[in-house]
Amino acid sequence: MIKSLDHIGIAVKSMSDANALFESLLGVKNYKVEDVVSEGVSTSFFNVGNTKVELLEARNSESAISKFIEKRGEGIHHIAFEVENIEQSIKELKEKGFSFTSEYPRKGADNKLVCFIHPKTANGVLVELCQSIQ
Ligand code: CO
Repeated sequence: MIKSLDHIGIAVKSMSDANALFESLLGVKNYKVEDVVSEGVSTSFFNVGNTKVELLEARNSESAISKFIEKRGEGIHHIAFEVENIEQSIKELKEKGFSFTSEYPRKGADNKLVCFIHPKTANGVLVELCQSIQ
């Protein structure tokens, strides 16, 4: 059901500073920047082997990312697993007792449908499920 670790999401205060830092750390440039207006975030993606790093910067104070940084500071925000069929995964995981932050998957960054498992039901980890849109 879960295919792979798709990416690790990192909340940052300054995208330009963080882009420079991760470019220096990883030795590659980001391959994509994308605003997800509905979520109030800007994103930047780096390839790392078979997985990716997603930097997330808040576009406004209502964004989940600005609230996260206010509470906990910068750092790892979520881990994302690629799934075959997101609707089916949601259904199966709900049956196993996981709760989700929203009822239905939404269009996220990187041409994917995404949904999030509530950290309360996943050892404090915000888990994103994502499915590539064909
Ligand atoms: Co993500």
